[in-house]
Order: sequence, then C-alpha cells, then structure tokens
Amino acid sequence: MTVHTRECHCDPKTLAVVRHRFQGLKHPIACTATSTRSNKKQSSRNCSYHRITREIPSRVCSSGLQAQTLLNMSPGSIGILVLVVYLLKKVYDFIQTACDLHLLGKKDPPKEYFTGAVVWVVGASQGIGKALARQWAQHGARLILSSRKKESLVQLKQELVSTYGIEEGNVFVLPIDITESYKNVENTVHQAHEHFGRIDYVVYNVGASQHAPVEETSHDVAMQLVGMNFLGHVALARAVQSFFLSQGHGHHVVIGSMAAVVPSPGQAVYSATKSALRSYFLSMASELDSRGTHVSVICPGPVDVGKDTQPRKVYGKDGLIEQKNTKKSRARVDVDMFTKLALRAVYNKVDECWITKHPVLLMGYLLRLLPRLGMNILKKIGPGRVKQFHTGTGTGYDVMMMLDGKNK
Ligand SMILES: NC(=O)c1ccc[n+]([C@@H]2O[C@H](COP(=O)([O-])OP(=O)(O)OC[C@H]3O[C@@H](n4cnc5c(N)ncnc54)[C@H](OP(=O)(O)O)[C@@H]3O)[C@@H](O)[C@H]2O)c1
Repeated sequence: MTVHTRECHCDPKTLAVVRHRFQGLKHPIACTATSTRSNKKQSSRNCSYHRITREIPSRVCSSGLQAQTLLNMSPGSIGILVLVVYLLKKVYDFIQTACDLHLLGKKDPPKEYFTGAVVWVVGASQGIGKALARQWAQHGARLILSSRKKESLVQLKQELVSTYGIEEGNVFVLPIDITESYKNVENTVHQAHEHFGRIDYVVYNVGASQHAPVEETSHDVAMQLVGMNFLGHVALARAVQSFFLSQGHGHHVVIGSMAAVVPSPGQAVYSATKSALRSYFLSMASELDSRGTHVSVICPGPVDVGKDTQPRKVYGKDGLIEQKNTKKSRARVDVDMFTKLALRAVYNKVDECWITKHPVLLMGYLLRLLPRLGMNILKKIGPGRVKQFHTGTGTGYDVMMMLDGKNK
C-alpha cells in the first residue's frame, strides 16, 4: 500500500515531516488512509500523516517525530512549555542564589556610576563596613570613614590610598560613637557634611549581635543593644536628614539583618533591634522618597568576613564575649560577593533586599508565604540553636544538628 501524501491536503510543512519520517522506515507501513480532494476537512482527518502518527514507533525516526510534535503543538501547549522551562530556571536560580530573586534580576552598577560620590561609612573599621569601604573605593567614590577606633580608620585610609590609588584628599577619617548624646552626633554630622560640601550616601553599618537565651539575657545587655543597633542610628539619621532635604537628594543605606525577617532563636534582642531598624527606615522611605531621600535596607544573613579583620564581638548574657560559632559554613556569603550585591541594591534603589544563602533565605520566603509553617519549624529548631550558641558547636545554621540538639 502507498501513502497518499500527494493527494493529501495537508500544508507543505506537514508533508515534509511525513516524507522525513518515511526515510527512516525499514518496512513500509500500511496506510489505509485515503484523501479526498473535494473535502479538505475529511482529508486532514484521514490523511496518511495523521494515520502514521499513531503507527510509527518513535525509535524509527525520533528527530522527525520531535520536530513534528513541536509543529503539531497548539499555541496554548507551547505557552505552557515555555512557562515550565521558565519556572525550572527560576527554581535553579533560587537553589544557587545568595540573594532574593528581586535583587538577583537587577543589574550591577556601571563602573563610573559612583565616581566622585560622597559615601559615609559609619562602622568602617572592620568586618562588613571595611569591605564596603573597599568596594566603594574601587568604584571611585570619595569616602568618609567613621567608627570609634581612629587608628583602625587611619590604617584603612592608608590601605585605600596605596591599593586602589584613591587620592588622600578623597578619604576623610572622622571618629564617632553613635551611642553618645544627640548633640555630639549632630556635631559630627555637620563636620562630615562640611568636609566635601555634601553627602550622597550614608551607610548605617554599626551593630553587634547577641548569643544568649531570652531568660538569661540581662536587661543591661538589652539596653546596650537597643542603643547601638537602633537608637544610635535614629539619632544619626535624624541629623543627616536635614542635609539630605536641603541638598534635595540623599540615600540611607542600612545594614540590617535577616534576623529582622526571620525571628532568630538565641538572638531575641538582636532580632528585635534589627526589626525596629528596618521598620524605622522603611517608614522613613514612605515619607520622604518623593522628596529625593532614598532608603535601602540590606539584610545580610551570615557573612564570611575573611581573616583580615578582628574577631567579631557579640553580646552574651551579661556583656561582650568572643563569638564562638565562627566555623566556616556553606551558609555564609563571601564578603566580596556581599559587597557587590549591596552596591547593586543601592544602584537600583531597592527598598529592601536579602543577601543570604539557604537555609536562611528559604526561611525568609517561607515566613512571608506560609507564616504558620515557618513558625512551627522555628519552634522545632529553636532549643537546638540556643544550645549551639551556648556550647559553641556547629555554625548556628545546621538544621539537622539543631533538630538533634533539641532531643539531647
Ligand atoms: N557578620 C555577619 O555575619 C552579619 C550578619 C548579619 C548582619 N550583620 C550586620 O552587619 C553589620 C556589621 O557586622 P560585622 O560583622 O562587620 O560587625 P563588626 O565586625 O563587629 O563591626 C562593627 C563595626 O561597627 C563599629 N562600631 C561598633 N560600635 C560602634 C559605635 N557605638 N559607634 C560607632 N561605631 C561603632 C565598629 O568599630 P569600632 O569598634 O572602631 O567602633 C566596627 O567598625 C552589623 O550591623 C551586623 O549586625 C552582620
């Protein structure tokens, strides 16, 4: 029997597919189809092409069949296929990412974007603040470096000049303790503004963490953390804001924490102060954005700040202690990656972003989308995490160890 391709009224593309498929056949396939010249509709129902689709096993001519399958798909099916591929790509990105999906989709700043801008990093002597100062120096910004320890700031200035070729006059060292009286903070803000005649960005990086159970954390520690992590920044922002308004522009860059997004067992006061900070600055954005003042609240999860910095101090139940959980962990974001993503957030004027890996990132989304499930998980891992902080074991982010710790 023959295939009536010539008599068929299928379009030329379909005919091409039919011929292609027959080239791979060892035995002719019986085709009982007949086509009728007079009736196109009937022809397309009975034609050899449709008949063969059912009869030829795909191994006979797989490429022909795939091409044909695609050609045969309706626009709706193609739409669904594109959507599935898009969603799979998003899932892959989500597994790999070190930041939220909104920031992931944004562009990095062009090299010259920050050139000549005045960036005031408050809390610049070590850790994340120092790394941010280095990143902005590489972008050609003019810098004001502040914290309590003047010697460390002077050292950083020398490093920026020798390593990044930044002119000495473009780095200004200005010590500050943000927990001092409002008058002192205001005076320092005036000096900062006077030096370059303007301030474009202020980075609120000062902050200390806390590792102690709720019932043991002294009230003194709670007061100190509120002063350093929250009220000090409120004072600074209050004094800076009058300059931003008179300039007609300015950008508050707030280094918050994922502890403001995910309630943090073993860090209750820290988590509360970072939540307060986040709410304060986002409320400010809602008031002042239309008058040229922008806010970016950048929420880091655990960051690997590298070795060229002093060990991070955290508050224990009665005062400062050396952080015990400093082991390397895959959950930590490398500090260079962190600073690059932070500058991306600032360039794109993102209101809030999360720079962190899983499991913290996953918990952030879970608490936003399914808050009750998120809280139930936190209640399960909470006791184990408090125990990890107490003993200095683990990294504070190993979920299985935390679940284990609960039962011991
Ligand atoms: N490292 C992380 O994994 C991580 C994770 C989430 C969020 N964060 C947040 O990121 C920020 C930086 O963290 P980090 O780990 O880099 O901390 P860090 O190493 O302890 O650095 C804190 C900086 O703040 C300065 N500082 C402290 N108290 C101050 C005060 N009263 N007035 C002015 N400056 C003061 C310190 O310098 P002086 O001692 O010279 O004053 C230092 O430069 C903090 O807000 C922290 O909460 C960090």
